[in-house]
Amino acid sequence: MGRRTISARRRSTVLATLVLAAAAIVGIALTSSYTDAAGPEAAPSPQATPYLPSIADLMIATIQPRHRRLLQAAQDKDWAFAAYEAKNLRGAFDRIGRAHPTDHDVSFPDMLTSVMEQPFSELDSAIRSKDGAGFAKAYADLTGGCNSCHQAMNHGAVAIRVPSGVSASDQDFSPAQP
Ligand code: HEC
Repeated sequence: MGRRTISARRRSTVLATLVLAAAAIVGIALTSSYTDAAGPEAAPSPQATPYLPSIADLMIATIQPRHRRLLQAAQDKDWAFAAYEAKNLRGAFDRIGRAHPTDHDVSFPDMLTSVMEQPFSELDSAIRSKDGAGFAKAYADLTGGCNSCHQAMNHGAVAIRVPSGVSASDQDFSPAQP
């Protein structure tokens, strides 16, 4: 074994030691600032349960942005992106149904099929044939499906709409008339 190999080895050992020391220092700093800021009860507990986002969490995180982005894609005539978002929106709905099979004893997947199956297939064919007018109708029906489910599941306060401008929200935040 030549000298070069030995010194290279030694160098890498020194390096590894330094890296470990740095990691330990960062670890200690993080732990102490964490405890200082939040008190000892904030330390991770061995009984911590896995975080399961609620249906509402998932609606805001995985459904609402894709509903908005889908429209944007069609307005830009970016049909490849529209197809991509439509598929991901569908997948996100299916995953919610698997994580939360029921909401107040109503089956989420059954409700989903009954309000969304038709608009999703209209959407797919409009996108496939790059048909702007067909897309507009399918998107309005899809948005109607959002509201049908919200109303059926007693969450009519959440009113979804077709956004009217580039930066407009897809949610109508004006209070409903009594
Ligand atoms: C199959 C039923 C169903 C469909 C379809 C559906 N939703 Fe929902 N959505 C729910 C339920 C249930 C809640 C309320 C959950 C709760 O608060 O416990 C909800 C809540 C929401 C919320 C409010 C979340 C919050 O915390 O403020 C938004 C936003 C939302 N949905 C967007 C949409 C959009 C956009 C669509 C259509 C692309 C859609 N939803 C389609 C069932 C559905």
